[in-house]
Amino acid sequence: MPDGARVLDVACGNGAVGLAMVRANKDGGPNLSITGIDSAAIDPPRFVTEHADLLRTISFRPMVKMESLPFEDDSFDVVVSQFGLEYGSPREALTEAVRVLRSHGLLTLLCLPARSAAIHAANKGLKQCKHLLRDAPLFDIAMNATQQLHQALAAGMDDGGPILAPFNTEVERIVRKLGNDECDVVFAIVLGLQKVFIDRKTASLEDQIKAIQLLRTRLAEYAARAQALTRAALTDSDLEELKRNIASVGFKLTEVKPILVGAYGTVAWRVAAERLARPALPN
Ligand SMILES: C[S@@+](CC[C@H](N)C(=O)[O-])C[C@H]1O[C@@H](n2cnc3c(N)ncnc32)[C@H](O)[C@@H]1O
Repeated sequence: MPDGARVLDVACGNGAVGLAMVRANKDGGPNLSITGIDSAAIDPPRFVTEHADLLRTISFRPMVKMESLPFEDDSFDVVVSQFGLEYGSPREALTEAVRVLRSHGLLTLLCLPARSAAIHAANKGLKQCKHLLRDAPLFDIAMNATQQLHQALAAGMDDGGPILAPFNTEVERIVRKLGNDECDVVFAIVLGLQKVFIDRKTASLEDQIKAIQLLRTRLAEYAARAQALTRAALTDSDLEELKRNIASVGFKLTEVKPILVGAYGTVAWRVAAERLARPALPN
C-alpha cells in the first residue's frame, strides 16, 4: 500500500488487523490511515492495554454496522475484514464496501470455514455448555453443597466428603453421558467449582455464591460466542454465494485461497477482490 493509503477494517473487534498493520509498518513501512468499525461498543485502546499506544493511532468507530457505513463514497483505498463480514449480512456489507471504496480499491477478507478445527471445537464446547446450562443440575447441586459446607463449618464439622457426594455423582453422570473426550469445558467448570468449595474457610457464603453465579455467567457468555462463531462460519455453498455477491455488487474477484496451518488444516478462506472502476460522470 502506498503512503497515506486509507484502510477500513470492517467488524474490527479489538483491532487485531489494524494493530498488525501498524506494527508491521512501524519501522519504515507506509504511513496508513486506518479506521475500524464494529457494531459493538468497542474501545480497543482501553481493552488491549498492552498495545494501547499503537491502537490509539487507529480511528475506532464503535456501534457502527457494516451494512450502513457512515462514510462518503470513495473514502477508502482498501477494505479488510478478518472473521468479520460473515457475522453481518454479507451482501449488504459488500454493497457498502463497494460504495466507500475508490475505483480499483482493494477488498481482502479472511472468512471462517464451517469445516475447520475452530468450528469443530466450538460445536464441541457448545454441546457441553447446553448440557450444563439446561439439562444437568450441576450448578444447583454446587450451590446446595456450598451452603451445607458453610453450615457444617459453623457447627465445627468440616468433613466435606458426604456433602460433596451428590456433586461428584453428578460430575460422573455428565462425563458418562458426554464421553471423556468431549468434556474439556465440563472439567474446567468442575475445577472452578471445586476451587469455590476449597475456599470455604476464607470466603463468606455470600462471596462463594457470587463466585458460582459468575462461573455460570461466564459459561453462558462462552456459549453465546461459540454459537455466534458456528452461525457465522461459511459452508462451501455460503462461500460460493459470497463469491457471487462480490462479483454482482461491483468487484472483480481476484483470489479465493484456503489458508492452511499445519495440523489445524484450513483455518480461513482468503478472498480478495478489486473494485471495478466507477463509470465516468457525464460532462
Ligand atoms: C469474530 S469477531 C472479529 C473481530 C476482529 N475482526 C478480529 O479479527 O479479531 C466478529 C466481530 O463482528 C462484529 N459484528 C457482528 N455483526 C456486525 C455488524 N452487522 N456490523 C459490524 N460489526 C459486526 C462483532 O461485534 C465482533 O466484534
